[in-house]
Amino acid sequence: MLKIGLIGAGNRGKDIYANFILNSTDEAQIIAVAEPNKIKREQVISAHNIKPEFSFSTWEDFLKKDKFCDAIFLATGDDLHFEPITIAMEKGYDILLEKPMSNKAEECVKIADMAEFYGVKVMVCHVLRYTPFFSKLKELIDSDIIGDIIDIQHNENIGNFHFAHSFVRGNWRNSNESSPLILQKSCHDLDILSWLLNGSPCKQIASFGSLKHFKKENAPEGSSTRCLQCSLIDSCIYSPKKIYYNNIGSWPTLIATEIQTKEALTNSLEHNQYGRCVYHCDNNVVDNMVSIIEFENGVNVTFNLCAFTDEVCRTIKIMGTKGEIRGNDLKNNIEVYEFGKGQGRFDNGAITTITPEVLIGGHGGGDTGLMNDFIDLCLGKKNDSKTSPRTSLESHIMAFAAEKSRIEGKVININDFINSLR
Ligand SMILES: NC(=O)c1ccc[n+]([C@@H]2O[C@H](COP(=O)([O-])OP(=O)(O)OC[C@H]3O[C@@H](n4cnc5c(N)ncnc54)[C@H](O)[C@@H]3O)[C@@H](O)[C@H]2O)c1
Repeated sequence: MLKIGLIGAGNRGKDIYANFILNSTDEAQIIAVAEPNKIKREQVISAHNIKPEFSFSTWEDFLKKDKFCDAIFLATGDDLHFEPITIAMEKGYDILLEKPMSNKAEECVKIADMAEFYGVKVMVCHVLRYTPFFSKLKELIDSDIIGDIIDIQHNENIGNFHFAHSFVRGNWRNSNESSPLILQKSCHDLDILSWLLNGSPCKQIASFGSLKHFKKENAPEGSSTRCLQCSLIDSCIYSPKKIYYNNIGSWPTLIATEIQTKEALTNSLEHNQYGRCVYHCDNNVVDNMVSIIEFENGVNVTFNLCAFTDEVCRTIKIMGTKGEIRGNDLKNNIEVYEFGKGQGRFDNGAITTITPEVLIGGHGGGDTGLMNDFIDLCLGKKNDSKTSPRTSLESHIMAFAAEKSRIEGKVININDFINSLR
């Protein structure tokens, strides 16, 4: 039985990972928790029957003790990963580390180095690698069905309400407190692109983007700074009535209030950050960003990251010498076009439509696959996993370089960028 300590009992730590351990495996157990929020900490203590000596208010208190369990889920905010992971690795814990590894490029490099130095097992939560959808894309590419890849177009469609919740009102609204959008939201996408290209390093990157819409000058006339007092609450696209009252008991309301009742939600929205007008927040992260990426193997990628989409999904088009693949992860649909094998007037490609298997669990089943992989790795059932700090470093470096490009208005050579960090 794998004994796990949870550090950071928020949405990821408590609602996803600890819940998985409780409900979906007999091979692991949460035996300790570190969380400053009393309500969340007590929810974990009661659900997992945690002994008083293994309940801590902070990661510092948890890690002051000698090693007392096998592994740690480290799911604190982006700016609170580096210090705890450094101590946890020194103490010999195996670790599931939430992405981004850190919100500072230098610290990401150090985490990758330290994991190898201490020889502990560390996985980074790049859940997309575990989804049947992206696994099928990789299998198709590796099968050579579309030949050599020439270009990829990738879109991360954040979804307007998701953006408003997480990146205007929520914890990732301000890059000074958390991370730039491309790191926080898209290190997954940059990781998947690198994975699909068999780990080919990135050569150079250029990005353009800005915060265009969610700012004071775009507030509708007559709007208030807090939504529950606003006369436009029923007509506003970003009304908390639609986003939160319709979702009591599930995301994103789980984040907007600790207690899942209408009364508790109203009480929370009266005071907390999720009851603020989207045009009057202290947000600074971009709501649109376009990147052009050249990989060492010659493949070019255009990557579109945008708040202004109806659906929350990823769409991809992979263009190869022998065919084309188009995919939409929300529709769980992949189309493969094989050039020269069709029947049409221009001998268009023969189309095969694939529906990848459906895995239960968040992120298109990726959360489930990640959990199983981590438990198997820690129990010694396998020697390797799909993610590691060294592998994740590639996507993180690309994200930091993209942000630098966007801010400084120049193309960033990745080797030069890496050298500047050492
Ligand atoms: N893998 C993914 O797809 C994915 C998705 C969303 C978020 N994330 C990442 O997961 C991490 C957590 O995100 P979240 O949505 O759960 O955030 P969250 O705010 O819900 O949870 C973080 C928790 O850490 C706790 N905390 C703060 N200070 C602490 C301390 N000193 N000691 C112990 N705990 C402390 C907070 O009280 C909070 O409960 C972030 O880095 C985020 O970027 C990953």
